[in-house]
Amino acid sequence: MNLILLGPPGAGKGTQAEVLQKRLNIPSISTGMLLRNAMEQGTQLGKEAKEYIAKGNLVPDVLVVNLLRERLSQSDTNNGFILDGFPRTCAQAELLDTICSIDKVLSLEVKDEEILKRLSGRRVCNRCGASYHTIYKPPKQDMVCDNCGAVLSIREDDKEETVLNRLTVYHSQTEPIKEYYRLRGKLYIAYGQEEVSDTTKEVLRVLGLE
Ligand code: AP5
Repeated sequence: MNLILLGPPGAGKGTQAEVLQKRLNIPSISTGMLLRNAMEQGTQLGKEAKEYIAKGNLVPDVLVVNLLRERLSQSDTNNGFILDGFPRTCAQAELLDTICSIDKVLSLEVKDEEILKRLSGRRVCNRCGASYHTIYKPPKQDMVCDNCGAVLSIREDDKEETVLNRLTVYHSQTEPIKEYYRLRGKLYIAYGQEEVSDTTKEVLRVLGLE
């Protein structure tokens, strides 16, 4: 299955992608993570992306699309993939249709007030990409990744003022994509719940994977 996870920052796309990739045995590809890796490695692309990400703005389409095109050409995507954080503009959705065909688009809906609570408690693993929350999904050992043992950190763009801008950008530039996929009969909606496990149940139900 070629699946897209849509939703505002902090909706739980990465958290649910972790579950779905194990369930479906296909890779989850996060453009945010690809960009953060490029920033850490200090590549030209990473340097260009940095100023956009730090302010909570979208990185220009041309940079992200080339990055994604290269990732999708790798053989582990032959049996399907999950896209987390792509597309984010209607132009990106149209370009994606020229690269591959998409089966389903899951929109994970969460209110803005809840997003602010979630992102203030988020802790991430820069080595394997796992995401935790100090209250909702704490790691077994404080600030240590359950999966790979690396030290957890707080994302630069999780500062409140940056999160508020990311939400504005989501509503103005990304949310219209829902209509693009609804018109093509590919849109599925799941409402994010208080508990991660309840959201997972809802996601599996909506996608017909129970
Ligand atoms: P990206 O990394 O994609 O960030 P995002 O979409 O803003 O989403 P997040 O990763 O913040 O949240 P998430 O939905 O994955 O939530 P999570 O599972 O971690 O993008 C970062 C930046 O890169 C962008 O701002 C942009 O600049 C750039 N970029 C990326 N892609 C781009 C593109 N295509 N075009 C242009 N620019 C691009 O969950 C959040 C927290 O909540 C966690 O702590 C988690 O444990 C907790 N949680 C999850 N589910 C629940 C639940 N049900 N109940 C309680 N807590 C929960």
